[in-house]
Amino acid sequence: MSNSPKQIQLIQPDDWHLHIRDGEVMKDVLVDTARQFARAIIMPNLKPPVTTVALANAYRTRIEASLESLGIVRFTPLMTLYLTDNTSADEVHKAKAAGITAFKLYPAGATTNSDAGVSDIKRCYGVLEAMQTVGMPLLVHGEVTSADIDIFDREAVFIDRVLEPLRKDFPELKIVFEHITTKQAAHYVRDAQTNGKNSLAATITPQHLLMNRNAIFAGGIRPHNYCLPVLKREEHRVALLEVATSGSPRFFLGTDSAPHSKGAKEAACGCAGCYSAFNALGLYAEAFESVGKLDKLEGFASLFGPDFYSLPRNTKTISLVKQAQSIPAELPLGDETIVPLRAGEAIAWSLA
Ligand code: NCD
Ligand code: ZN
Repeated sequence: MSNSPKQIQLIQPDDWHLHIRDGEVMKDVLVDTARQFARAIIMPNLKPPVTTVALANAYRTRIEASLESLGIVRFTPLMTLYLTDNTSADEVHKAKAAGITAFKLYPAGATTNSDAGVSDIKRCYGVLEAMQTVGMPLLVHGEVTSADIDIFDREAVFIDRVLEPLRKDFPELKIVFEHITTKQAAHYVRDAQTNGKNSLAATITPQHLLMNRNAIFAGGIRPHNYCLPVLKREEHRVALLEVATSGSPRFFLGTDSAPHSKGAKEAACGCAGCYSAFNALGLYAEAFESVGKLDKLEGFASLFGPDFYSLPRNTKTISLVKQAQSIPAELPLGDETIVPLRAGEAIAWSLA
């Protein structure tokens, strides 16, 4: 493939990190995701969080009802459970039997709806032991939460204080370091020794491949570019783009598309989260094209994720064309509206 084609064909991608919320707004966001992706890992940080198999099954049923009402037949939600200090090992076995795909670790207080998260990972050692035994992946929001650690350093400090000790204690536990944002995380995952086991991977969002922290302050405060972990310096963006486009199977697509209404973002204390689902694939294609690596997009978007999770690869294909798509200033979100990433501008690639 030439490195500046006008059209590319890919096995249909999946989104390995997605927030679709609940209730009426869920339909508005599901339709954007299902246009592009065959499956998505559905994050469990609802209010209240999805902490049990029973809650996950009920959530799955609501998602399926939304899909049905939208007439969407080819989209599969992959359910996750929200780990708390009180999760039992028994819940892991039930989750495995019920076809739950993974557990999510939110350090308490790290991000949106994480108050019920884990206060100290040591409290979860029994659960992690069970997860390692049954092959249940742990998805990690990798930031420490102590107020004395600078917000731009919280991911790098998490590696030393939490992730590395965790991997030593559970060498066979499958871990996904979610939405990585730093050179330290990119290199940690790239260089980790896993004894030939497929035990460590990372997802990367489109915004962290395309923007650095200047985008939060360009000419004034830009709440729609604020997400967690927060955008970092340019050197970090460059390192993320390098590993994402390297062809390493340890890095794959996870948009972390996180819808919050316009009002909840444009506020004195605005919510964290970028809504990238509207044309996430176009954003990723731009990022890969910027370094002449469009030929590496399919592995990142469509192959390495299912391989890590031991799920079948999709068989259908999709095409992206180099045709600018204007992104609306706002989209409907239930009774309110949402401002998508790139609102009022264009994305260079569109779905054919
Ligand atoms: C996410 C959300 O809004 O649920 N927000 C975000 O900034 N990414 C939570 C998360 O994934 O951290
Ligand atoms: Zn997220």
